[in-house]
Amino acid sequence: MNIKGSVVMVTGANGGIGQALVRAFLERDAGKVYAAARDDTALAPLVQLGEGRVVPVQLDLLDGAGIARVAGECADVQILVNNAGINRGLWFLAPAGADAAREEMEVNFFGTLAMCRAFAPMMAHVGSGVIANVCSILGLVNMPANGTYCASKAAGHSLLQGLRGELAPKNIRVVGIYPGPVDTRLTAGLEIPKASPEGVAQAIVEGLAAGVEDIFPEEMSRQAHAMMLQDPKLAEREFGKMIPA
Ligand SMILES: NC(=O)c1ccc[n+]([C@@H]2O[C@H](COP(=O)([O-])OP(=O)(O)OC[C@H]3O[C@@H](n4cnc5c(N)ncnc54)[C@H](OP(=O)(O)O)[C@@H]3O)[C@@H](O)[C@H]2O)c1
Repeated sequence: MNIKGSVVMVTGANGGIGQALVRAFLERDAGKVYAAARDDTALAPLVQLGEGRVVPVQLDLLDGAGIARVAGECADVQILVNNAGINRGLWFLAPAGADAAREEMEVNFFGTLAMCRAFAPMMAHVGSGVIANVCSILGLVNMPANGTYCASKAAGHSLLQGLRGELAPKNIRVVGIYPGPVDTRLTAGLEIPKASPEGVAQAIVEGLAAGVEDIFPEEMSRQAHAMMLQDPKLAEREFGKMIPA
């Protein structure tokens, strides 16, 4: 897909990967980037950087009416990157584990689903488009320390597969993005090796440009995915050792 001149929307554009994605699309000469965030005042530096190409959009994934309004106002989107997400950092049996599971499903699954449902009809009307959802390598295997988050991302992975089938006849490409650990607010406090959001964003935009369907944007996710393909039960056991401290 040609990024140059394209109209893009990035959700969670004030976050670590989201900001870096907006910058990466600008570097690739995207024509217009809608940068969506709950607090759109946080987008001022990106708007300045874009010199007219970045349009700030106020968007909360938990606000269905807001999503419908934004879809109406941004009907020219050709590449939708559903990046916004949360991780409560809890396990299934933690005291607040059930609440965390619900909150994560609301944002990561139902919020992303609502965005896809709002934008797909417009892309279908035009006869083309790309929907790229930022899932996680943890959508493919559960890590018990963040078990509830993994469950929401597994639902997100299934959403990607289902939408891909539904939207293929309408010439809408559905792209899955499966990062490993990235150095953002979401992983603050985790003492593990992390990829830079800038490198991950570059790899995502390169993957989109090259027409890759499932993007593993850094080394750890590529290694983990290779293990899952070779020996899924080994991957399950290895990630299963990552239990709450
Ligand atoms: N960091 C990692 O290791 C990693 C690995 C794999 C996948 N991911 C995924 O990558 C995506 C981006 O995460 P990140 O690492 O960049 O974390 P981040 O810096 O915390 O960014 C998350 C973004 O999502 C937004 N968001 C949260 N709830 C929202 C809602 N209800 N409506 C609209 N926006 C909302 C946040 O906005 P506010 O600032 O308003 O909260 C923020 O802009 C997420 O989907 C995450 O699951 C991250």
